[in-house]
Amino acid sequence: MLVDKFGRVIDYLRISVTQLCNFKCRYCMPEDGEFNNIGRSNILSYEEMFDFVKICLDNGVKKIRLTGGEPLVRRDIEKFVKMINDYKPDLDLAMTTNGYYLKQKAKVLRESGLKRLNISLDTLDEKKANFIARKDVLNQVLDGINEAVKEGFGIKLNSVVLKGINDNEIIDLLEFARSKNAQIRYIEFMENTHASSDLKGLRKDDILDILSKKYSIKEITKSPNSPSSLFETSDGYKFGIIDPHKHDFCASCNRLRLSADGLLIPCLYYEDGKSIKEAMRSGDYDKAKQILKDVLEAKPEKNKWENDGKGEISSRAFYQTGG
Ligand code: 5AD
Ligand code: SF4
Repeated sequence: MLVDKFGRVIDYLRISVTQLCNFKCRYCMPEDGEFNNIGRSNILSYEEMFDFVKICLDNGVKKIRLTGGEPLVRRDIEKFVKMINDYKPDLDLAMTTNGYYLKQKAKVLRESGLKRLNISLDTLDEKKANFIARKDVLNQVLDGINEAVKEGFGIKLNSVVLKGINDNEIIDLLEFARSKNAQIRYIEFMENTHASSDLKGLRKDDILDILSKKYSIKEITKSPNSPSSLFETSDGYKFGIIDPHKHDFCASCNRLRLSADGLLIPCLYYEDGKSIKEAMRSGDYDKAKQILKDVLEAKPEKNKWENDGKGEISSRAFYQTGG
């Protein structure tokens, strides 16, 4: 079992398989996205990642999420899914994606053993989607969502709610998610140095106020490690809100992150990580286990993210560590 120095059991590994993305969402990265290509030789191969995954699974990890960048831009990602699934078929194996390539990939991902998908969907308006992602994406994303529904994935839709951009679609997005049998999760915009500086996010209470105009809502008990608060409408639809500005999920954090270039990172908003790349490349698994131990030891009690411009804002990008 992996336990950190504050007694938290770490059983959830998030793997960013690439920093690259085919979108340039304003809340995630600047217009000039070329900077984030760290070069193929610096990226861990699927075999190298998988050797580390086995160490984690043998030590009690029960859930793995593949993220990016955009995980579906990495070639043959389904092969990596299959490697992991073949090793531990009862694993909770999930992916966070922008949905653009799901039209082509949903079927093969399902066949390879992927169980759940979190798909970003901030708007149902083509022009707004184009504005947010800086690319004309909506129709292909909607096709991707439909394909994922057809393949029987458990689906959550993630919406970052931005003032003056998609805050008038909060109800429409809920209705859309409900029609797809998916759970919507509204996410408070997390300020970071890579995002457009003119964005302003809505807070949880603002979102609930808007929803309360149409639905009667009660908060329900969420699973202990989830960063999202869970709500239910009176007719039984469940949805989530992720509110990092208020909500302190550090106390129950069960996560560890691996970046595409092999950095093992104890916390999303923590600048220190340790690389397992050389250890994995030389097959020195004892070294890798020692690094894993060291990183768990360094996992901070609380994240370092400052949220309202008063303190330092994290400079680690979402596309590096996976949102
Ligand atoms: N604030 C909140 N959520 C973000 N994401 C990316 N950047 C941010 C940010 N600055 C989340 C979005 C996206 C997922 C991949 O990461 O929900 O859908
Ligand atoms: Fe890409 Fe996701 Fe960042 Fe958007 S939020 S640019 S889809 S990594």
